[in-house]
Amino acid sequence: MGRVFSGVQPTGNLHLGNYLGAIRNWVAMQEEHDCIFCVVDLHALTVAQEPEELHAHTREVTAAYIAAGIDPKRSIIFNQSQVAGHSQLAWLLGCFTPLGWLNRMTQFKEKAGGHRENAMLGLYGYPVLMAADVLLYKATHVPVGEDQKQHLELARDIAGAFNRRYGREVFPLPEPVILGATARVMSLRDGRNKMSKTEPSDYSRINLTDDADLIAKKIRKAKSDSIMGMTYSPQKRPEASNLLSIYAALEGVSLDEVCARFADSPFSDFKKELSEVAVAHLGPIGERMRRLLSDPGYIDGLLREGAERARALADPILAEVEQVMGILTP
Ligand code: TRP
Repeated sequence: MGRVFSGVQPTGNLHLGNYLGAIRNWVAMQEEHDCIFCVVDLHALTVAQEPEELHAHTREVTAAYIAAGIDPKRSIIFNQSQVAGHSQLAWLLGCFTPLGWLNRMTQFKEKAGGHRENAMLGLYGYPVLMAADVLLYKATHVPVGEDQKQHLELARDIAGAFNRRYGREVFPLPEPVILGATARVMSLRDGRNKMSKTEPSDYSRINLTDDADLIAKKIRKAKSDSIMGMTYSPQKRPEASNLLSIYAALEGVSLDEVCARFADSPFSDFKKELSEVAVAHLGPIGERMRRLLSDPGYIDGLLREGAERARALADPILAEVEQVMGILTP
C-alpha cells in the first residue's frame, strides 16, 4: 500500500497513446494505493506555450483523467502550478544534482537538438522538477512509460544523494512502474512512429474527444497492407501489428488470443471489428470528456479542491526537508 504519483503534460490533444500508455493504467491503481495524479503545467512551460491554450489543455487533461475513470474523491487530481512546493523543492533538489547527471538525459538532448546554447534552463532542469513532483509526497510508486525511466532513475539518485548528505532517510526511493509493451501505440499512418499529438495529419491518431463516427473513419482509413490474414510482426507488418496490439489493449485480452482470432481474416474485416471495440471503449470516454469540458467552472473547482488536498500532504514534507537543511527554524 504505497503512494502513487504520476502526471501528464497539458500540451494539447490527448490521444489513444496517452490513454493506453498512461491514464488507463492508473485507474486500477486506485484500488490498492493512495494516488496523486497531477497535470504538470510547469513542465509544459519548458516549451513555448500560448497562455489561453495552456489553460484549456490543463482542463482537458483533467477532464480526461475523470472521464477515463479516475475518481476525484478517492484520488487527488490537481495541477502542479497550484502547489508551490513543487517549485520550491525543485530548487532545493537542484543543489544536489550534478550537471554530469543532467548531461546524460537523452530527452534533453533530443528536445534541445543541435542548439544546446539556446536551450532554456527550464528544459535542462526538467528532470529535477520531476524528481520534486514525486519526492514532495514521498511517493513510492511512479507509473511511467519507458521514455521516462531515465528521469525516474535520476529522481532516485537525487533522493539518495540528499539522504546521504544529511545521514537520514528523508526520501524513500521511488520505484518506477513501467507499463506494458502493448502500451506503446503507434501512428495510424506509419506503424514505425509513435502516435503523437504533433504529427500534422489528424488521421494519424485517435483523439480522446473524437466521436464515434470519426473514430470509425480513422480506423477505416488507417494504413494497412495486402497480406492475407492478420499476423503480429512489428518489423515486417508494423501497421497490422499496431492495430492488433491496440485491439488487445482495448479488449484486455492477450495478443496471442487476438492473433488467433483474426488469423484468417482479411484486413478490412479486422478493421471493422477493431472499429467496434474502439467505439465501445472510447465513445463513452469522449462523451464524458465533452460533458465535463462544457462546465469549466466545475473542473476548476475540482482542481482547486485537489490542490488543497495535495498541499496538506506536501506542506509537512517540505517543512521537514527545510528543517533538515537548516532553512527552517526548528
Ligand atoms: N515527464 C513526464 C512525461 O512527460 C510527466 C511527469 C512530470 C511525470 N512529472 C512527473 C510523470 C512525475 C511521473 C511522475 O511523461
